[in-house]
Amino acid sequence: MKKFFLFRCIVVTIAALPCTISFAQKKTIDQKVDSVLKLMTLDEKIGQMNQYNGDWDATGPITKDGDKQNQIRKGMLGSMLNVTGVEHTRELQEIAMQSRLKIPLLFGQDIIHGYRTTFPIPLAEACSWDTTAIKLSSRIAATEAAAAGVHWTFAPMVDIARDPRWGRVMEGAGEDPYLGSVIAAARVRGFQGNGLGNVDAVMACAKHFAAYGAAIGGRDYNSVDMSLRTLWEIYLPPFKAAEDAGAATFMNSFNDLNGIPATGNKYLQRTILKDDWNFKGFVVSDWGSVGEMINHGYAKDGYEATMEAVTAGCDMDMESRSYINNLSKLVKAGKIKVELIDDAVRRILRKKFGMGLFDDPFKFCDTTREQQQWNNADNLKAEKTVAEKSIVLLKNENHVLPLSKQTKTIALIGPFIKAVRDNLGFWSYQYPDDSARITTQYQGIQNKVSKDTKILYAKGCEINDTSQAGFAEASDVAKQADVVIMSVGEASDWSGEAKSRSNLQLPGMQEELIKAIYATGKPVVVMINAGRPLIFNWTADNVPSILYTWWLGTEAGDAIADVLFGDYNPSAKLPISFPRTEGQIPIYYDHYKTGRPATSDSDRFYRSAYIDLSIYPKYCFGYGLSYTNFSYSAITMSDSIMHANKPVTAEITVTNTGNYDGEETVQLYIQDLVGSVVRPVKELKGFQKIFLKKGESKEINFTVDIDKLKFYNDDLKYIYEPGDFKVYIGTNSQDVKEASFKLE
Ligand code: BGC
Repeated sequence: MKKFFLFRCIVVTIAALPCTISFAQKKTIDQKVDSVLKLMTLDEKIGQMNQYNGDWDATGPITKDGDKQNQIRKGMLGSMLNVTGVEHTRELQEIAMQSRLKIPLLFGQDIIHGYRTTFPIPLAEACSWDTTAIKLSSRIAATEAAAAGVHWTFAPMVDIARDPRWGRVMEGAGEDPYLGSVIAAARVRGFQGNGLGNVDAVMACAKHFAAYGAAIGGRDYNSVDMSLRTLWEIYLPPFKAAEDAGAATFMNSFNDLNGIPATGNKYLQRTILKDDWNFKGFVVSDWGSVGEMINHGYAKDGYEATMEAVTAGCDMDMESRSYINNLSKLVKAGKIKVELIDDAVRRILRKKFGMGLFDDPFKFCDTTREQQQWNNADNLKAEKTVAEKSIVLLKNENHVLPLSKQTKTIALIGPFIKAVRDNLGFWSYQYPDDSARITTQYQGIQNKVSKDTKILYAKGCEINDTSQAGFAEASDVAKQADVVIMSVGEASDWSGEAKSRSNLQLPGMQEELIKAIYATGKPVVVMINAGRPLIFNWTADNVPSILYTWWLGTEAGDAIADVLFGDYNPSAKLPISFPRTEGQIPIYYDHYKTGRPATSDSDRFYRSAYIDLSIYPKYCFGYGLSYTNFSYSAITMSDSIMHANKPVTAEITVTNTGNYDGEETVQLYIQDLVGSVVRPVKELKGFQKIFLKKGESKEINFTVDIDKLKFYNDDLKYIYEPGDFKVYIGTNSQDVKEASFKLE
């Protein structure tokens, strides 16, 4: 107790020193950290590097682990995850305040797409290409979580993913490093708000460092084997963007990268992150990943695993108990220098100070604030807006959509029409009163149509059924209707962690159900709910109108109804290619040029193509329709010659030629025609979202500066090379206008 007061006096004295503001703040925190560090024993330092799962899950107390509480009391624990709610976090923080130095605990949680208000899954939000909306979603998630005692979210997940078999594709922003980077930055800014230390800001955590999204075969936790150039060019940029945006923490990952587990990977954590990028935050392991280096065969036992992880720069051990059991022995044996421990502890304490927890460990324990955020109607409104922006219109032949609210009879068919929690998707919290709060698709549609509209319903089949017993009733219902809306997809626990699938078809009998309903001759709209790109070729080729609705969150039903009935004109664009079959995977738009390029589907022999399958995805990166149409003029370049210090501008006029006002995402791609290493066929380098009234035109300008032309050469130097370039501007990665320029 005495020491604690002494320490607080030191802090107060230091804080009063006259300095310039920015320097004072930085210096002050570092000095505060040092003053604490000086008081700490080796065991207390190691305690700060130790993180356990709590004894509560999200719905209430489960078992109480006396051992954990004693460890907190002894200063052997720096952080906990999966402890939420003011009551629970306060209870544990109070125990931390009984420890010798009273160092507050950090509470971390996977706030992946909302806390209380569930937002669309991140892959769906990425379809909005709307960084303001994405930032807002993260902001609200942070506000709600922080009000419930959470200090730290294990998000954003910024792993590039090009394999939809991998279940965690749902957690990221898709296949592209440029789009992934702007979204990563938006999410970090959203979570961290106006800065750590505010009561509505949580620490962000860029994960999983690195290349986890490239797990071989799309099998979760699998190895990753890739060239360093691919690592730098494709997989690292979103992490760098997150770091530049101020991400407080990073999480390493389960996979090995070219033979070295990411958790014990010095090149990743020290050389790149802490040295090259000058990252000042701390790195937490993934759940148990320090200990899992034994399974990798990279460490003989926990002792070796700890040595590898700490040496490589992993500052905090999540749940493997390797550090707490081995680190002290390693230091005493001279295998790990205490300076390494000090560095890790400094990083952690810096964040605890930054969050203001030393001043007030209960700063995030305000029950009034918690209650205000629990059923916040404004947050729900914002959720609906983001959900609308996430719905992708894949097909709309004969303008079946939007539907009239005056339609006499509408048949609603399929296992998702009345689904409740499946609208939330994986990584959402299951609160007891959520069901009443979630708007089902049925309710959303019912709320939207006129009071004279008759709604008929048949489930037709279960999500993963083998039975067609419900088909006859569903067909009967369809026959009585003017239009049929079907809702199919995969259950919310079919994508997510440890949810890899080898078969991406619509599960069970659902596509058979679609065929049966289509056979009634009624106009059919199909909505697909999923956490990844699914394969549904028959539906895509036959059904006139298709919406990809992903898992949209709490307000799914109202957002869907807005789109179906034209109160919102869809604007979303795919951030990931949709394959025709699993055999095309991995498929992504920015592939390298080959020596025998195939340029059309008839180009099959002696070309880099399949003899039995198209070279094109079913739906390409950047694809997504609107109820209106946009036409693109030719591109005008400001100059045909560019110099490194003199950018060129590419200008295009976009016109809304359809019958609705609408939003378009104008996409800029560039191709470097000849390079010292093979360059991709095109790379996204910019985009602009524009809203055009019916008949309206707008000139769009993209500045092409030298940064847009840089790439990693064979020596991993980030350079540009003079030569010829092509500029493409269009509505998706395939449908583009083209122009050229030369860099001198
Ligand atoms: C996941 C992480 C997550 C952690 C804590 C791990 O299994 O890979 O993304 O943050 O668990 O829940």
